[in-house]
Amino acid sequence: MTAYEIITKKKRNAELSTDEINWITAGYTSGSIPDHQMSALLMAICFSSLSERETVDLTMAMAHSGEMLRPDTGGFNVDKHSTGGVGDKVTLICAPIAAACGVFVPKMSGRGLGHTGGTIDKLGSIAGFRTSLSYDEFIRNVRKAGLAVSGQTENLVPADKKIYALRNVTATVDSIPLICSSIMSKKLACGADGIVLDVKVGDGAFMKDLKSAEDLAELMVRVGKRAGKKCSAVLTNMDKPLGRTVGNSLETIEAIEALKGNSAGDLHEVAVTLAAEMIFTAGERSREECRSMAENAIRSGSALERLQKMIELQGGDPRVTEDSSLFPQAKRRAEIFAPESGYINGISCEETGLISMKLGAGRLAKDLPIDYSAGIVFDKTVGDKVCRGDRLAVLYTSSDCDLESIAEDMKGVFKYSESNDIPKEKNVIKILKGY
Ligand code: URA
Repeated sequence: MTAYEIITKKKRNAELSTDEINWITAGYTSGSIPDHQMSALLMAICFSSLSERETVDLTMAMAHSGEMLRPDTGGFNVDKHSTGGVGDKVTLICAPIAAACGVFVPKMSGRGLGHTGGTIDKLGSIAGFRTSLSYDEFIRNVRKAGLAVSGQTENLVPADKKIYALRNVTATVDSIPLICSSIMSKKLACGADGIVLDVKVGDGAFMKDLKSAEDLAELMVRVGKRAGKKCSAVLTNMDKPLGRTVGNSLETIEAIEALKGNSAGDLHEVAVTLAAEMIFTAGERSREECRSMAENAIRSGSALERLQKMIELQGGDPRVTEDSSLFPQAKRRAEIFAPESGYINGISCEETGLISMKLGAGRLAKDLPIDYSAGIVFDKTVGDKVCRGDRLAVLYTSSDCDLESIAEDMKGVFKYSESNDIPKEKNVIKILKGY
């Protein structure tokens, strides 16, 4: 078997055997297969795709490239994954809700990717909060608080770490079987009993149209089921930023407010739907019951208590949940005003993500530090009526970025129409009931 033969086979759209997939994945992870051959294979996969059997094989080969964890929490463990969005602080809301409703949430999370944010970076905005726990401490904390969120352990899915970095620089990210194997290998290696997937659809997501998002969601659910997991997916809208904030401390504050019941609309609906799905995976209650339990956990304050407990156990100051001034405060700000009157009929999501990166909320290059205070607060959203001169948003930063030119770009993010005939987008588009 040679890498050359495997690349040629895939280039000709032939099906690779399980042995070939195992061999090339192990070889690339160990370094015996070079980047240029793996790049050629990834590009061939982008054009020829993979069958479901090949995707399952690749997912398994990647998952087994490192340690396979078995979270010993003494209860039903559920994991949640988002395919990535702008303003997506949902984990910070749905994980404490699910924990308050009796399931365990051992959540290994990533940093921001491209224009999309990551939960680890959001939690990093809490002074003292440790995002890198030993596995023993991680599990101990889950037993005590019902949840813990930590960065991935060093030896978790090394194949994905290498392949993802290569895909990022070879324009091979947007392939459904490659995204599926990347996400599902990490979820399977984390070892939860149930997996709930939030598949984002729209301008700010990797999947721009509903058909591709459905295909990805169905494939991931089938792969999860074949691996013996309870797995379901929720398709949610990413045609506009989720909620009212983008940026790490701003989003963490918004998530805390949502846990206090101070959030309506899109963020509340998406977070409660995902939390209910996480509770549902435990298999003891109907979806309707799970939804009302999730709403109750917000009303009673029990979900917020879980978040406070997690912050405390991970070395952060739990008083941040009562006093938002304890978060890093931006040194500079710029207000954005409506240049015309009318209705806002769109907010470009991808551009918003890129602007928040330029303000310092994301990394423009790997390993650059993050400005936790940076980000955007929206005063107006899609469907709102505005008069010329109304404030639309405020930009925040502590960096020496060119705030004036970023503010100019931000004006272009808003789209207007004269009448309010804007079709109402669904926040939760579809629940794919996977099992
Ligand atoms: N998120 C991942 O973890 N992998 C992908 O390929 C895309 C999004």
